[in-house]
Amino acid sequence: MLPYTSKIGIIGGGQLGKMLIEASRPWNIEYVVLENDSKCPAWLVASEVIEGGLKDAGKIQSLAEKCDVLTYEIEHINAEALLEIENKGKVVIPSARILQIIQDKGLQKDFYTAHQLPTADYFLATDTAGIIEKMDSLPGEKLVVKQRKGGYDGKGVDIVSKEELRAGNWNTPGPCVVEAFHENITEYSVIVAADRHGNLVSYELIEMYFNPLSNLVEFLFSPAEVSPDLEAECREIALNAIKAFHGAGLFAVELFVTNDARVLVNEIAPRPHNSGHHTIEGSYTSQFEQLNRILLDLPLGDTGMIKPSAMINLVGGEGQSGRYRLKNERELLDIPGVYVHLYNKAEIRPHRKMGHITVMAENLSALMEKAGKVRNLSGFEVI
Ligand SMILES: Nc1ncnc2c1ncn2[C@@H]1O[C@H](COP(=O)(O)OP(=O)(O)O)[C@@H](O)[C@H]1O
Ligand SMILES: [Mg+2]
Repeated sequence: MLPYTSKIGIIGGGQLGKMLIEASRPWNIEYVVLENDSKCPAWLVASEVIEGGLKDAGKIQSLAEKCDVLTYEIEHINAEALLEIENKGKVVIPSARILQIIQDKGLQKDFYTAHQLPTADYFLATDTAGIIEKMDSLPGEKLVVKQRKGGYDGKGVDIVSKEELRAGNWNTPGPCVVEAFHENITEYSVIVAADRHGNLVSYELIEMYFNPLSNLVEFLFSPAEVSPDLEAECREIALNAIKAFHGAGLFAVELFVTNDARVLVNEIAPRPHNSGHHTIEGSYTSQFEQLNRILLDLPLGDTGMIKPSAMINLVGGEGQSGRYRLKNERELLDIPGVYVHLYNKAEIRPHRKMGHITVMAENLSALMEKAGKVRNLSGFEVI
């Protein structure tokens, strides 16, 4: 109901929380954020920041008491505490039950299998001996070993050869998922929104390019350059994956298309995602407004695209640390259809996500040309 008289609680006060709050400015919603640092990216726009750890059950409880609906902008939080809060009747979106599956890459893979969702072949192992015992069940010489818990942005994911394993040159630090390695995949993402009444919508397919060193999404654009059939197949698989959760939320479904044109579900994020930032300007309803609508129990918004859009991540360069400023700000802001977002981080660090730029154009070829120009101009200098 608008005007909304209660508050929304967000576990995590990073850039995703900040952009979630910014998206509801016309609706005057109050947010309370839980974050370690009172000067986190979201502090400027949140009504209140509770200082505390994201796994601290007591702090999560204090946040819950101040709000009537809770969400989170990061998955490495205390899911058990959230489950308890939910069992007492508080609305948590997405449900702690969904978060528990997503937090554990092993449970995620088993979930895809149980729901007939295509995914790379895999097995679970608790230690290196367990990997060696089963590794020949997967084809090829290389394997992808993913730690079941705690990984993000490529941390906790290793490409390991069977030979290295046999020779005892690589050991897993803990329980892991071992996947078949797919050479030359293209990576896509579909943002899917599910309201509290079982309605689902998806956004147009997003084509993503990662930095091989940092494993961060470096550049993406939408609509993806694929056939209408492949686009439809990706969106259908993504919708089916989220339908299988039977719960509300805003999700990003990361997909691979293999070199033999198979679509595989890689992983799912239960929150707004880096791959959906272009929707802020590029779509009639951004991923952030969409999540606000779900939290407020309003109808889902139009996911249609206004114009082809690209997003360039602004990250700290090698050796950069301390205070900083955006390079070429006048030149960048002089280009029509260019939107700069800065995440309000006090200091720059190598590979740290500092902001992003959305670029819009009338068609894909004009978009690529403009995005190339923006990429060359963008970056930071340390001051
Ligand atoms: N089975 C695979 N075959 C080939 N590349 C993979 C495979 N699994 C993951 N990758 C690569 O590693 C990246 C990170 O893996 P992902 O499971 O998405 O972990 P994270 O949680 O760190 O994002 C992917 O975006 C992809 O580039
Ligand atoms: Mg990923």
